[in-house]
Amino acid sequence: MLSPVLIGRDAELRTLVTALDAAGTGSGRAFFLTGDPGVGKSRLAAELSSLAEGRGFASYRGRAVQSASPVPFRPVTEALMQLGRSGSLVQAASESEYRSVLATLVPELGQPGRTSTEVNPLTVAEALLRVLALTGTGSILILEDLHWADPETIATVDYLADNLDGRRLLLVATLRDDEPSAGLDIARSIIARRSAELMAVPRLTEHEVEQMAGACLDADHETAVAASRLLANCDGLPFAVEEVLAAAAASGQLEHRLECHRQPVCGEAAHGASLRAAGSASARHRTPPRSELDARTRFRSHRSTRRWSSRGGGRTSHRVRDGVESDR
Ligand SMILES: Nc1ncnc2c1ncn2[C@@H]1O[C@H](COP(=O)(O)OP(=O)(O)OP(=O)(O)O)[C@@H](O)[C@H]1O
Ligand SMILES: [Mg+2]
Repeated sequence: MLSPVLIGRDAELRTLVTALDAAGTGSGRAFFLTGDPGVGKSRLAAELSSLAEGRGFASYRGRAVQSASPVPFRPVTEALMQLGRSGSLVQAASESEYRSVLATLVPELGQPGRTSTEVNPLTVAEALLRVLALTGTGSILILEDLHWADPETIATVDYLADNLDGRRLLLVATLRDDEPSAGLDIARSIIARRSAELMAVPRLTEHEVEQMAGACLDADHETAVAASRLLANCDGLPFAVEEVLAAAAASGQLEHRLECHRQPVCGEAAHGASLRAAGSASARHRTPPRSELDARTRFRSHRSTRRWSSRGGGRTSHRVRDGVESDR
């Protein structure tokens, strides 16, 4: 049950759009969007990507995946393949001496008779800086889930962040900060040397949860208020909000639960029970299979559920910042 509109995030978007406009004039920047699983890092990045496209930017996105044997440069390669599909990569790279570097990652750039160059993170990052800056008004490169990134991608991000000034490129990386990772370490180090900015994505406020419930259910104010009571234990996690609503709808109990929460006495009694039902169904994967509940979502659902029990203690907005302070 997805919210058709982005809730909150006005301040974050203002900052990012200012950086986007600066990138369009050649002052490239880098941002790390951090926070708990399901807090809305990707949604924020997607919103920025749409705004960027509306401004004539070319937008590229690739993501790291959890893997025992990570593919080198996976997120970077995925982003470049998008460029390849649009045809603009061949055009942009045609004159570049770095074409052979990119050809190693994206076969369609290969030229007959030319052997491909051996790649390393520095040459890949330099190729990205040169080629992406040539497309559109500027480019936005979104690299998702850096906490799972392969070492080559991490080293590429390290170099990119240091060399964005003078380029029409905005780099936005998302990563979870709830557990240690090499991606988190490099983000801290890059932020500490002021080559990128930290944007800790906060949980939604109570009012924003109410707004999100209203948007998800396409409901009037009274229903949204009742739904926000049902969602009280989601602790401001948008992913949990969606899951609880979806689980209640799938069980056929949504209307009944909302009705109970319209009446405070009944609501008090029903509150714990309805959340326990929805939460545990989600946690133990008893939720009826929905196509969007892929393996990654179920994993995230489990972790989100775990976090609901630590209200407030799960807030992570200072985790990267604390790390940066100790790095300095
Ligand atoms: N501000 C928001 N307004 C409306 N819906 C939101 C908002 N933030 C997130 N969502 C929704 O909540 C769900 C989880 O968000 P998202 O995937 O962006 O989380 P995430 O922080 O990227 O999680 P992960 O660490 O697992 O990648 C998505 O379906 C998204 O559309
Ligand atoms: Mg995400």
